[in-house]
Amino acid sequence: MAVDRKIEEMIQAIAAKDIDAAGAYHRLPGEARRKVLEALDGKGLRSLTRLIKNAKKQRFAAADKRFLEIADGDIATPVYLIDETLIEENMRVMRYVKDRTGCRILHALKAYASFSTFPVMRKYLDGVCASGLNEARLGYEEFGKEVHTFAVAYNEKEVGRILKYSDVIIFNSFYQLRQYGPMAKKEGLEIGLRVNPGHSEVATEMYNPCAPNSRLGVVYSAFKEEFPASKEWVDGIHFHAMCEQNSDVLERILRSFEKLYGQYIRGSKWVNFGGGHHVTRNDYDIERLIRLINTFKKRYGVQVYLEPGEASVLNAGVLISTILDVVKNKIEIAIMDASAEAHMPDVLLMPYKPHIKGSAPPGKKRYTYSLGGPSCLAGDVVGGYSFDRPLKKGDKLVFADMALYSIVKNTTFNGIGLPDIAVIRSSGEIELVKRFGYREYRDRQS
Ligand SMILES: Cc1ncc(COP(=O)(O)O)c(C=O)c1O
Repeated sequence: MAVDRKIEEMIQAIAAKDIDAAGAYHRLPGEARRKVLEALDGKGLRSLTRLIKNAKKQRFAAADKRFLEIADGDIATPVYLIDETLIEENMRVMRYVKDRTGCRILHALKAYASFSTFPVMRKYLDGVCASGLNEARLGYEEFGKEVHTFAVAYNEKEVGRILKYSDVIIFNSFYQLRQYGPMAKKEGLEIGLRVNPGHSEVATEMYNPCAPNSRLGVVYSAFKEEFPASKEWVDGIHFHAMCEQNSDVLERILRSFEKLYGQYIRGSKWVNFGGGHHVTRNDYDIERLIRLINTFKKRYGVQVYLEPGEASVLNAGVLISTILDVVKNKIEIAIMDASAEAHMPDVLLMPYKPHIKGSAPPGKKRYTYSLGGPSCLAGDVVGGYSFDRPLKKGDKLVFADMALYSIVKNTTFNGIGLPDIAVIRSSGEIELVKRFGYREYRDRQS
């Protein structure tokens, strides 16, 4: 079918709120997607956004069943099981934001760095953001597009290699800018400066990049003193102030950021809005994000970057564990082969209670258990859950949303083995991409 005819049909399908229009949009090549967007008015664009969100929601709901079926089979545990098709769903939403705004989106490796799924991600995103040498190298070697590196402070021993792997280096102080900026320019990199935007709304201090006395980002008082003398070195300004948040928070951060730094932005090449944008969450207000980016770009004439990590793989992976034993100490306690401490450390650090598919809060269903890991740590406990059936040895539990900040943070504490990593490919095949063993434990002790 001729492209123009296809586009015409799609416009009609969007007007008719036909959910298939979302998939059809994603399958179009870039030029055709641009034509579709140009042909739609405000109402049509909002309608397309809604269809894209609903289509994604449907795909994730269907995948829930798939995770449970796989867990019911003979898959070895513990295992992080990542669904590549769900990552692709998330990627499509991010590319839609790019289509509507022309912004550039990087994936934050700190959240997820399992490179066996990078081929899917690199089709949609512009590159990665890295936090230092190892991530920069992984991004360069395995992702292969732009690498933007920000480190709180660079180490003299590493900075030369970091520059080799990076396209952009972002500094956290004027001292570091002066120290390493000339070297970076000589190597052909662009330079950014991270600032504290003066506003954030993250309740947990541990995860608030702009908490009082934060070391992350130059504060305005220092910026205004030192920037004028250094500005010819700086190509872009970076801020990161969010954590798992919606675009209303970004709007308020931008208000503060622009009030403080607005007069300095013109003349820069780009502004990086950092991570923490939960763009792929069902209730995320994508239209507002698009409006904010477009207004900002127009106002300042700069490129805008986003560097979310969580949003790339949100809900796209699970951790499957097996019950090893059930013991009793006034309450029923199920002991699993997965550990909160070693395999899902944010559960204890944040802390938060992950959802287990098919479970309910304690007491809601007939059988309630406290779930704990196999380590000797008293606090290696995920929490209380209830189930329709009693738990017994060999039963499998599926912890939801475990691709992010889990594999990148896990440990071999107590000598406990690391979970396998398996990927559900778009063909439906489950590929065991990594099995760890004694060597990984031993090599880290040396
Ligand atoms: C500088 C920077 N960019 C991006 C991210 C990614 O954030 P998220 O995974 O919450 O989207 C973080 C997270 O800590 C960060 O510190």
